[in-house]
Amino acid sequence: MTTAQNWEKSDWRSKPRIQMPDYPDQAALGAVEAQLAKYPPLVFAGEARRLKRELAAVARGEGFLLQGGDCAESFAEFSADNIRDTFKVMLQMAMVLTYGAKVPVVKIGRMAGQFAKPRSAPMEVKDGVELPSYRGDIINELDFTPEARIPNPEKMLQAYTQAAASLNLVRAFSTGGFANIHHVHSWTLGFTQGQGAEKYADMARQIQDALDFMTAAGLTSETNHELSQVEFYTSHEALLLEYEEALCRLDSTSGKWLAGSGHMIWIGDRTRQPDGAHVEFCRGVQNPIGIKCGPSLTRSDLKELLDLLNPTREAGRIVLINRFGAGAVGEHMPKLIRAVEEEAHPVVWTCDPMHGNTIKSNTGYKTRPFQRVLEEVQEFFAVHRAEGTIPGGVHFEMTGQDVTECTGGVRAVMEEDLASRYHTACDPRLNASQSLELAFLVAQELSDSREGLRATA
Ligand code: PEP
Ligand code: CO
Repeated sequence: MTTAQNWEKSDWRSKPRIQMPDYPDQAALGAVEAQLAKYPPLVFAGEARRLKRELAAVARGEGFLLQGGDCAESFAEFSADNIRDTFKVMLQMAMVLTYGAKVPVVKIGRMAGQFAKPRSAPMEVKDGVELPSYRGDIINELDFTPEARIPNPEKMLQAYTQAAASLNLVRAFSTGGFANIHHVHSWTLGFTQGQGAEKYADMARQIQDALDFMTAAGLTSETNHELSQVEFYTSHEALLLEYEEALCRLDSTSGKWLAGSGHMIWIGDRTRQPDGAHVEFCRGVQNPIGIKCGPSLTRSDLKELLDLLNPTREAGRIVLINRFGAGAVGEHMPKLIRAVEEEAHPVVWTCDPMHGNTIKSNTGYKTRPFQRVLEEVQEFFAVHRAEGTIPGGVHFEMTGQDVTECTGGVRAVMEEDLASRYHTACDPRLNASQSLELAFLVAQELSDSREGLRATA
């Protein structure tokens, strides 16, 4: 059983809270919380339980996790086209990864709730003017004016509405024919025929061969609806605990609490103190929980977190999202892997090669060199090969749009291009082409790992 005994959804309020806004208008905050508490949950307990079962399979090496989406969803960028394009790129990536991993790929969007952002600095200075930092559209506004930066609880209602509409669209795409395996592959082919991507054409051809074989054998989407539908889950950082508590619901089937805001929630690298408010909230809900693991995470803190968040060692409950930075994985990850193995905690190990590789370009933009992203992924696989443990998945900040936020890739984005289509509300994302290229490279790593395993068997 996951749900903690003697736990109330408001218990986090008596713990140290960081990275959360101090709302100046407490009455307005209370009114919003009361309203949200009456709204339907966005996800249902049965879905979270199914995701947990799928993640348990990932932890055993019988699946692979692809988690991706915006760093921060924004109100301004919200459109059906943007959701469709990100969903489409994720399906393309998943198809390529399925081929490499030879196991089902569990797909989780950073979507329909990924609005609140932790910040490295509480204040932002521009041209000598100092204002509170932007903390995501659910809290305040990006504009650099004193009014825009005041935390406004009403924004939680708009975030809820946007999340509900996003989820509605994603549910329709997942089952309405858009996700048909044959269509998805035809999109992928467009990429591999593009300039610079010819090196991936071989794998694309092999995928096409496999699909042709399936069709010849009578396995079409008409005869087999699993080929035309996908499961797609949502996730976000559970940072704004007033919002999370207001959407927390008691599941009558199991008698356990559910974070109704998304299928999976995670605890950020800045808010994972074992005695802090965020861990306290996540401890009591039955959803799968992610923990961001950065360079400052100690073995003893990780053990304590696992005991708090998963005392019964339930498989599929915990996803460890590693984000050390290229060149630093070998220093940090082996000791954490051993700590987890010593305690026999079942976890999914995933690699977030984004957050440890953020730099400021010479032109002043926050960016991530594609090459560094790729190197961190390769180091992650190498460490798991050396430790004999299972590389369970990848976690990316990406978009289906043709943005210029990360440098590099086969259709190279140069530093001087960053200004042309830099749209992120927070961290730089991989564009559609970079995302797909990364999927091909990860698929290569995965099939190499499998060959390595076969060779040593
Ligand atoms: C994020 O995932 O956007 C994020 C802020 O990550 P981290 O907590 O790992 O820095
Ligand atoms: Co980010």
